[in-house]
Amino acid sequence: MSDNVLASFTPARREERAYDRTFRVGIIGTGWIAEAHAESYLNQPDVKIVALADLIPGKAEAFAKRYGLADARCYPDHKSLLAGEQLDAVSVCTYNTAHAQCAIDALAAGVNVLLEKPMSVTVQEAADIIRAEKQSGKLLSIGFQPRMDFNMQKIREIVQSGVLGKVYYIQTGGGRRRGIPNSTFIEKKTAGIGALGDIGCYSLDMVLNAIGYPRPLTVSGYTSAFFGQSERYQYPDAFHTAAQNAARFDVDDFAAAFIRLEGGVVLDFRISWAMHLDTPGDTLILGTEGALRIPSTECWNGTVGGPMKLYTDVAGLQTVTELPIIPDEGPGLFDRKIRSFLDAIESGGPAPVPSSQILYNQAIIDAIARSAEAGKEVEVVIPDV
Ligand SMILES: NC(=O)c1ccc[n+]([C@@H]2O[C@H](COP(=O)([O-])OP(=O)(O)OC[C@H]3O[C@@H](n4cnc5c(N)ncnc54)[C@H](O)[C@@H]3O)[C@@H](O)[C@H]2O)c1
Repeated sequence: MSDNVLASFTPARREERAYDRTFRVGIIGTGWIAEAHAESYLNQPDVKIVALADLIPGKAEAFAKRYGLADARCYPDHKSLLAGEQLDAVSVCTYNTAHAQCAIDALAAGVNVLLEKPMSVTVQEAADIIRAEKQSGKLLSIGFQPRMDFNMQKIREIVQSGVLGKVYYIQTGGGRRRGIPNSTFIEKKTAGIGALGDIGCYSLDMVLNAIGYPRPLTVSGYTSAFFGQSERYQYPDAFHTAAQNAARFDVDDFAAAFIRLEGGVVLDFRISWAMHLDTPGDTLILGTEGALRIPSTECWNGTVGGPMKLYTDVAGLQTVTELPIIPDEGPGLFDRKIRSFLDAIESGGPAPVPSSQILYNQAIIDAIARSAEAGKEVEVVIPDV
């Protein structure tokens, strides 16, 4: 093969494209995850970060300085940012309890929104966001970057190919032996929910997206906080001792649930920030013609932990096929999350991760929390939107 032919496959050649506009972007909430958003926006040739907002005095300004955003204007909250700027898009990077208000206000101001996960705390909030999205006619995408992972996309492709036959049972979840975050993640007033929302939303999305997001019907859920509320398993941070973090902790650090979905599928789910175990198990998708085993990562972050295994009968022989991990090449997951959002705005949609799907994800999380509180099975509530 000549060098000329080889050159046509170089990344530079593949990346060539015209950018005919500049997106004026704002970031609401300049905490930890906003850094990943800023870095990915800065990697896009057609984006200018023009505005930043944070409730903590000086935080947005310090963020602007850190990222060399000398022209970006800084605001003390999301409302003043939306009132003061003409924006094409915002990233909502606030803690969970502020997601709904910030997303609704941004959509009402006619701005396209990339909303961090989990979509909200309650399913009512998720429904309110979707109503605002519909009224605005703007694009809303939810920040599940594992969707951009080629291995995750393969799971959906395998299930949708029909090779598993009718899927009837799924086990999913993820866990960390010791992985309790601190900061704003451990208090109800900022996080609303704990591991259930923070990393549980990823496990649910992995399998629900694969099977086409059927409507959830009932949930029997359980939550606990034995590790988060214990000084023995807490960590100190810049502002609190381990004892103070244990006292502040009022969300869940573990959740489990048995969920019935439309179409006769049951979903066995567990998630944890901390426990005396490395992982609560692989994700299993059982169908009438085959099954898929998806190894969990040790510190659960919503990605595939190793080669998947496909179990099928071939001419009466029980076979196992190992599916090699697809290496991640090119821009990282976060860059792809940002780029797919911008491209969807440009093309008029659809959203890379649509709110109509994540409404069901949030409805399950909401039902697990309610069921755990009530100590019995509950119906999943899905508001009309
Ligand atoms: N996609 C991912 O991989 C990923 C990873 C970590 C966190 N997250 C999500 O990102 C969100 C933020 O997490 P974080 O770790 O950055 O939290 P953080 O507490 O570090 O930052 C949140 C910031 O939002 C600010 N804020 C809250 N309400 C505001 C408002 N009305 N206007 C302006 N600023 C406001 C707070 O002052 C705070 O500085 C959470 O929902 C979390 O679940 C996603």
